[in-house]
Amino acid sequence: MKNLSFEPFSAYLEELSYTKSRFDVFDDFLTMMVCSLSMGRKEEEYLRTVKGYTKKELDIFCKAFASVIMQMEYRQLEDPFGDYFEEHLSNGRNGQFFTPIPVCELMANIVHGFNKASEQDAQKTVSDPACGSGRLLLASAKIDRNRYFVGSDISETCCKMTLINMCLNSIEGEVHHMDTLSLQTWRKWMVIIDKFTRIPYIYEVKKESQVLRLCKEDSIMDANIVNDENKTIQRVKQTSNGFIRFTPKVP
Ligand SMILES: C[S@@+](CC[C@H](N)C(=O)[O-])C[C@H]1O[C@@H](n2cnc3c(N)ncnc32)[C@H](O)[C@@H]1O
Repeated sequence: MKNLSFEPFSAYLEELSYTKSRFDVFDDFLTMMVCSLSMGRKEEEYLRTVKGYTKKELDIFCKAFASVIMQMEYRQLEDPFGDYFEEHLSNGRNGQFFTPIPVCELMANIVHGFNKASEQDAQKTVSDPACGSGRLLLASAKIDRNRYFVGSDISETCCKMTLINMCLNSIEGEVHHMDTLSLQTWRKWMVIIDKFTRIPYIYEVKKESQVLRLCKEDSIMDANIVNDENKTIQRVKQTSNGFIRFTPKVP
């Protein structure tokens, strides 16, 4: 019988970092995870990322992946990546120190109110415009995970940590790789929970610029985002301040 116990994922990444930059290994690991959670839509990016590694190294990545899954299974809504990132990689770049979990939980309780969530609250969006590894969103989801969660960050690595944290905890929403001061946006992903199977997956939004243009030029207030098979996966709304806002669920 196979031994299914795993080391913490950090131990596997450290093993890979003897010969490669620790940052590259971590970032590639996140990319591989995002691709794997994208329902086969990110094969090219996946193959580009794994190219630089031997089969033996890729086996170690697989163990790290399994270790993260096991950890998230037993300890939901925690942030395994944030701690690793802070300890080994951040060096305080771009203020990349993350808020301690108990403080996140206190802040989430203050913002949500200590009362039990009402039905109306489910329509509300929880947003963190400098989300880091997404732990403020996770703290908020501990109170009410039915809201719609939006995280933005100037660092793509942080976006990927947030995306995986959201997806593996079945939290619906979006992650924007953007500068939230200048509003320049580079990439945008959604975490969608399949209506029938309830399986969460990551979808990179590429057609939004077209939707945005359509909304602006034709003063359309509602539009649909379609996937590669032309199926509507989400509706978008133009709000009074000109931003696009994704509605939580396909009606
Ligand atoms: C102090 S961390 C906070 C992370 C998270 N909100 C938390 O509480 O743990 C600040 C985050 O802001 C991001 N950041 C810095 N400048 C930014 C900008 N102009 N636009 C978006 N994110 C930015 C950094 O990459 C970093 O992840």
